[in-house]
Amino acid sequence: MTDHDFITGLPKAELHLHIEGSLEPELMFALAQRNKVAIPYASIEEVRAAYSFSRLQDFLDIYYAGANVLQKQEDFRDLAVAYFDRAAADGVVHAEIMFDPQTHTDRGIAFGTVIEGLLAGMADANARYGMTSKLILCFLRHLDEDAAFVTLAAAEPWLDRIDAVGLDSSELGHPPEKFARVFAAARAKGLRLVAHAGEEGPPDYVLQALDLLEIDRLDHGNRSLEDPVLTARLARTGMTLTVCPLSNLKLCVVDDMANHPIDRMIKAGLRATINSDDPAYFGGYIADNYRAAASARGLDRGDLVLLARNSFLGSFLPDDAVAAHLARLDAYVEASR
Ligand code: ADE
Ligand code: ZN
Repeated sequence: MTDHDFITGLPKAELHLHIEGSLEPELMFALAQRNKVAIPYASIEEVRAAYSFSRLQDFLDIYYAGANVLQKQEDFRDLAVAYFDRAAADGVVHAEIMFDPQTHTDRGIAFGTVIEGLLAGMADANARYGMTSKLILCFLRHLDEDAAFVTLAAAEPWLDRIDAVGLDSSELGHPPEKFARVFAAARAKGLRLVAHAGEEGPPDYVLQALDLLEIDRLDHGNRSLEDPVLTARLARTGMTLTVCPLSNLKLCVVDDMANHPIDRMIKAGLRATINSDDPAYFGGYIADNYRAAASARGLDRGDLVLLARNSFLGSFLPDDAVAAHLARLDAYVEASR
């Protein structure tokens, strides 16, 4: 079996995926027409040509503008269905997907429209592929904490179908401490907690996410490596990092894939995972991310299996489901020898 096929078939979980970031230009155009929404591009080629970023904010400006075409419940369902089709083809058997309700409620789309559409897409993926999935509600950190509380209140009727809250958008200048109270409120409601930290922000933001937000999982976390004490703590406590290699390259978190720290993370004993973040914008889905990291950093099959294993261990699945996935992963490795 080629390495390409080994990676595609490797059973894996995706733990860091923004569903709005899976909006491919083709669907963006189709929804713009269907909903009669104007978009500032004349062609699909022009959309792709606009995807050149030198930092996180360049990307976010385009990503929030693209989300304008999402208007109706079926748009969110179609978006999710398209993602799950790509994920299934890449060997994803479980996905924990993030969504940004404020991106939609702030333009007058009801919370229920967004989440019911996504839940319909998740049910479809389960019926067609047997894929399981969970929802992570992300607060936009460039907005204030009161707005996050309003969003948490809007989510109340669906809390039994939301597993976690997260924190995304512009990191610099919006440290985790800004959201300590709303994260405590979410935890009190039984939700798990994740946060983007250490993507562009300093190691201190990772520390705040650990100590002030009490996160269960760390999104990105790359800059943790600048602090050996923090790195050792993350390794000792078994914190899962959801690393996104192609995103890191496109957003200039790394200057070259040849300098990506994924193997340093593994060697430091961190529970690193590989994910796609915003695949429609960054040039690849999860298997492309595994392949890009593997070829740039010389990861062998043992490393790839470890990354897939970590994706199940770092998921919010119950222990028996994790054990079943790990057994299936072991069987896959055995059969591919
Ligand atoms: N929203 C979508 N993708 C993001 C990223 N990589 N960082 C912060 N916010 C995001
Ligand atoms: Zn992200």
